[in-house]
Amino acid sequence: MLAHSGGSDTRNIPFSRPFIGKEEEDAVLRVLRSGWLTTAEEALAFEQEFAERLSRTAASPLAAAAVSSATGGLHIALEASGLRTGDVVLVPTYTFAATAEVAIHVGAEVAFIDCAEDSFLLDTKALERTARRLSEGKTAYETGGPAGRPGAVVPVHFGGLCCDMKAVNEAARRYGMAVVEDAAHAFPSYSETGEPAGALGDVGVFSFYATKTITTGEGGMVVSRSHDMIKRAALLRYHGINRPVWDRYTEAAASWYYEVAEAGHKYNLPDILAAIGRVQLRRTDDLLEKRKRIAACYDAAFSTSPFFSIPPSASGDARHLYPLRLNPPLAAVRDDCIKKLQEWGVGVSVHFIPLHTMPYYRKRYGTKYGDFPRAEDAYSRVISLPIWPGMTDGQVERVIDSVFKLV
Ligand SMILES: Cc1ncc(COP(=O)(O)O)c(C=O)c1O
Repeated sequence: MLAHSGGSDTRNIPFSRPFIGKEEEDAVLRVLRSGWLTTAEEALAFEQEFAERLSRTAASPLAAAAVSSATGGLHIALEASGLRTGDVVLVPTYTFAATAEVAIHVGAEVAFIDCAEDSFLLDTKALERTARRLSEGKTAYETGGPAGRPGAVVPVHFGGLCCDMKAVNEAARRYGMAVVEDAAHAFPSYSETGEPAGALGDVGVFSFYATKTITTGEGGMVVSRSHDMIKRAALLRYHGINRPVWDRYTEAAASWYYEVAEAGHKYNLPDILAAIGRVQLRRTDDLLEKRKRIAACYDAAFSTSPFFSIPPSASGDARHLYPLRLNPPLAAVRDDCIKKLQEWGVGVSVHFIPLHTMPYYRKRYGTKYGDFPRAEDAYSRVISLPIWPGMTDGQVERVIDSVFKLV
């Protein structure tokens, strides 16, 4: 059973709600009263504490750079991965816009990869096939798509479940690709060997967006075993300036002087947000436990029903999402089911609309419905149910009852 009971509470259940307490409020006030609002000691401490936590179970010590979003983090991670203009970045089609758009921003092209069978995660056989075609000078797919050197792969640990990183890394080694993990959903997630997501490739990027497993409202973290990679990411996140701004104002021998080493960005995480992140980081195990218990209630309720397929999971899964799949005949009326659930006060969402069906990529690469059937099937049947740490017993039960009412 869960910690609290909602009793006969009939208020709307939001799809997501951050778990924010007095400690977060106090931390923000501390920064507001300190006289220094933007990036400084809090952000430094946050990235050090984050790296320490991840390093506990990593094969070797990790370094981290705090950023203003995972999107910004993915952008600089790709930029720091040695891509050349016209290289191709291999990306699952079953993901959010951010995963692919950053490849375009670094002058690369995007080749999409379908899901594995009965999975939301990328199909490593298709990854291998596409990388091979590109390395032979062919287009990404038999039907067309981009051509160019396979420069990087961006596996997405969808919902917190780790991709098969052994197969991803092998394909990357064979075809000379960098591995940039999109770990936006995956803090804290672990591979079968117990190593943390984000530390399984060359560089990993986490999101602290409001719905994520820990949050700073907006924010992200770039991590890597390579301290040189993190040094480069830190340079790129702040205008390519080789000296943090707070040094120039806070050091005893304060100096106005700085140098621009390369054309960077403005992706730094302000201290107000970093202070929230440090408190959230300390809550990680508790928040994870709460999400796992909700997922266990859903699994128990839906796993024996022929109308539903529960999401694949593993013990190291952060359970950021609960993507329930509707089986036929319910699957055919998924959109109506969403409407009903919303009418009954249950906030739900859909993760994800496959990127190859989006107008931008259809126009750029000629992709269309039918190109990636597994991702399209997953999308057409899925409803993401609420799974957030503050949900009461009563709310979880109401979600389950409402879903069964659809039947
Ligand atoms: C898979 C995935 N990657 C990247 C992002 C981007 O994260 P952010 O909002 O922190 O930029 C998201 C956002 O939800 C996401 O779902």
